[in-house]
Amino acid sequence: MKVVVTGAAGQLGHELVQALSGNDVAAFSRVELDVCDFVYTRRMITKIRPEVVINAAAFTRVDDCETEPERAFWVNTYAVRNLAQVCADLDCTLVHVSTDYVFDGRKTSPYAEDDAPNPLSVYGTSKLAGEFFVRSLARRHYVIRTSGLYGLAGAGTRRGNFVEKMVFAAEQGRPIRVVDDQVLTPTAALDVARKIVELMSCDHYGVYHVTNAGQCSWFEFAKATFALAGIAVDIEPVSSAEFSAQAPRPRYSVLAHSRLAQMSADDLPPWQESLKWYLRQRGRLSVSRPRARQGG
Ligand SMILES: NC(=O)c1ccc[n+]([C@@H]2O[C@H](COP(=O)([O-])OP(=O)(O)OC[C@H]3O[C@@H](n4cnc5c(N)ncnc54)[C@H](OP(=O)(O)O)[C@@H]3O)[C@@H](O)[C@H]2O)c1
Repeated sequence: MKVVVTGAAGQLGHELVQALSGNDVAAFSRVELDVCDFVYTRRMITKIRPEVVINAAAFTRVDDCETEPERAFWVNTYAVRNLAQVCADLDCTLVHVSTDYVFDGRKTSPYAEDDAPNPLSVYGTSKLAGEFFVRSLARRHYVIRTSGLYGLAGAGTRRGNFVEKMVFAAEQGRPIRVVDDQVLTPTAALDVARKIVELMSCDHYGVYHVTNAGQCSWFEFAKATFALAGIAVDIEPVSSAEFSAQAPRPRYSVLAHSRLAQMSADDLPPWQESLKWYLRQRGRLSVSRPRARQGG
């Protein structure tokens, strides 16, 4: 299959390129293809004539979106509208990736795909607006909502990901305070990438929730990371109010995999297993208990 991947240097983009091996993939980092350059994006995709475009590009710094709303809407909304229009014109499939932060977190049980979104932050609003354009413009579309992503590409960036930040802070001997009143499902980018590749070859278009299985707070996720990495550290649970991040976040954003379950395709591993796999890949797992995992 001929596939274009945008945002290919990001955590998910990187894993998508691995998961798509065997396909004819044109993968572009931001430097190679800025999705906010609408004309160039249209020209490149039209030249390639892919069967599928996967948009893994996004402005993902949730707190910075509050202070840079224009950039958030350019990347997460208007660029997505352009991609959706291009895909509609070429009659190709658009896979677009979205977020649990489209929900407000007032529920106490997992959000289904058709639960009403109500984002709390600029990031969530810009992503939801992008979803609407995909759903209204691109006839063949998948909107994949995921949460708490970490991937190997995150290890190579200054910004890192939550797991890398925790390990780095512990090694620096920094005090570690983590919010314990936001519950979600941390998710390995590789697991999402593999599910996207599986889904895109069927024609069951629509919105999907794709995360690892289970749920925990960020505090529990940090504790599990330290336990698996064998790092002894004092870790203090704090409330979101005490932590006072720039952007408000949902207190509960676990995503129910209702669509995947309907298709008997809800087989994503528990978050603990994927975290173990990630730490092993990073050479950080303290007790090596090998787990059979394709490609791992
Ligand atoms: N990370 C999470 O916890 C999380 C949770 C839920 C959903 N998601 C969604 O999952 C998707 C993938 O996230 P991720 O964790 O892989 O994010 P990521 O690591 O930040 O990757 C996003 C990539 O998009 C690139 N990008 C930014 N602006 C661009 C532009 N104008 N044109 C082209 N590329 C651009 C970034 O490049 P630069 O780094 O050079 O700017 C980066 O390589 C996103 O849609 C995100 O909203 C993420």
